[in-house]
Amino acid sequence: MSFQMKNENSMINQNIENVNLKRTFPEIIGNSSAIKKIMSAIIKIAKCDAAVLISGESGTGKELAAAALHRLSSRRDKSFIALNCSAIPEQLLEAELFGHEKGAFTGADKKREGLLEAANGGCIFLDEIGDMPLSLQAKLLRVLQQKQFTRLGSNSVINTDIRIIAATHVNLRKAIEEGRFRQDLYYRLNVLPIDLPPLRARADDIEPLAQTFLQSCNRIHMTHNPCFFNEEVLKGFAQYNWPGNIRELQNVVERMAVYAGGGALTKEHLPHEITDYALDKSTPPNTNPSERLTLSTPQHTISTEDLPSEGFSLSQHIEELENQYILAALSKTNNNKNQAAKLLGLNRTTLVEKIKRRNLG
Ligand SMILES: Nc1ncnc2c1ncn2[C@@H]1O[C@H](COP(=O)(O)OP(=O)(O)O)[C@@H](O)[C@H]1O
Ligand SMILES: [Mg+2]
Repeated sequence: MSFQMKNENSMINQNIENVNLKRTFPEIIGNSSAIKKIMSAIIKIAKCDAAVLISGESGTGKELAAAALHRLSSRRDKSFIALNCSAIPEQLLEAELFGHEKGAFTGADKKREGLLEAANGGCIFLDEIGDMPLSLQAKLLRVLQQKQFTRLGSNSVINTDIRIIAATHVNLRKAIEEGRFRQDLYYRLNVLPIDLPPLRARADDIEPLAQTFLQSCNRIHMTHNPCFFNEEVLKGFAQYNWPGNIRELQNVVERMAVYAGGGALTKEHLPHEITDYALDKSTPPNTNPSERLTLSTPQHTISTEDLPSEGFSLSQHIEELENQYILAALSKTNNNKNQAAKLLGLNRTTLVEKIKRRNLG
C-alpha cells in the first residue's frame, strides 16, 4: 500500500472515530485531543464496574463525565445519585449517605433511607470527596470493601450493590501526606482514574463550547435576533486563562448574550476580567531588564529534582506563588490596592478580583 493511501486510510479512520465519539457523547462538546482521549477512556471504563476517581479543577466537567459514564454502563437503568461532600455538615452528610432510624439523633423524627440505599443497583457520585471527614472516610471504605453498611441508630446490616464514582478538585496525594485523607480509601477509589485537564490546556475546545452555549442561549432568549460572536471576542476567549473553566465560559457567554439582547457580541461586551487579562499579558510590568534584576525573587534554578515523580499541578503551584506576592504587596502598601496593583504590574480590577476569588483580603 502506498504511503499516501495509508495516510488517507488513517484520516478516514480518525474521522469515523470522531463521528462515533460525537454520537456517543452528544452532551460533551470539544475537539481537543485531550477531550477525545477522555471520551475513549470513559467508553472503556463504563464496561467494567470498579470505582472511578475523577480529578480536575472546578468546572472542568467532572460531574458531566460521571453522568456520561453511568449512561454508558450496564447500570444505566438504575439511579445515578450525586452528593456533594463539601456542601453538607458532617452529621448530616453521614445521615444523608447511610440513612437513619427514627430517634437516631435529635431531629430524626422518622426512619429515612440513605443515598446508598436509594442508589442500590446504580451509581453514586461523591463530589469533592477530599472534603469528606475522616470518620466518614472509614465508613465509606467499609462500604467499598464489604458492600455492606448500617443505618444510623441501627445494627442490622444492609447489603448494597453500587458503583462509586468519586471526584476531587484537590490533590488527594497531598491530602494524604497532610493526614486529611485515608490512603487505603484513596487506593480503593483510584482504581480507574480520569483526569480532566483545565480548559486552558485544551484551547481547541473553547470556541466550540462557546458557540454551543451561545446557540442554546439564542434558542431560549433570542429567537428573533440571535447573538453571534465577532472575531475579537473569540480572540479574547482564546487568550484568557479560564480559572473557572467550562462553568465560567458558560456563565460569561450567557451574561454577554443577555446584556447585549441580540446581534453582534463585540469586545465591548467582554467582561473586565477577560479584557484585563489580555491587557496584563500585552504590557509586561517590567520591561527594563536592569529593573527586573533588582526584583528579589527567591533565586532558585528549577532542576529535574524539583519535579515530583508522581507529577504535580504547575498552575496551582504558580497560583500559590502569585498569592504570596499579592500578600507581600498588600502588606508593603498597608492594604492600598492601587499601590499594590502598581507594585505588581497588574490592573487594579484584576488584583481586586484575585484577592476576592482567592480569599486573600
Ligand atoms: N465538555 C463539555 N461540554 C459541554 N458542557 C460542559 C463540558 N464540560 C463541562 N460542561 C458544563 O460545564 C458546567 C460545569 O461542569 P461540571 O461537570 O459541573 O464541572 P465540575 O463537576 O468539574 O465542577 C456544567 O454546566 C456542564 O454541563
Ligand atoms: Mg462539580
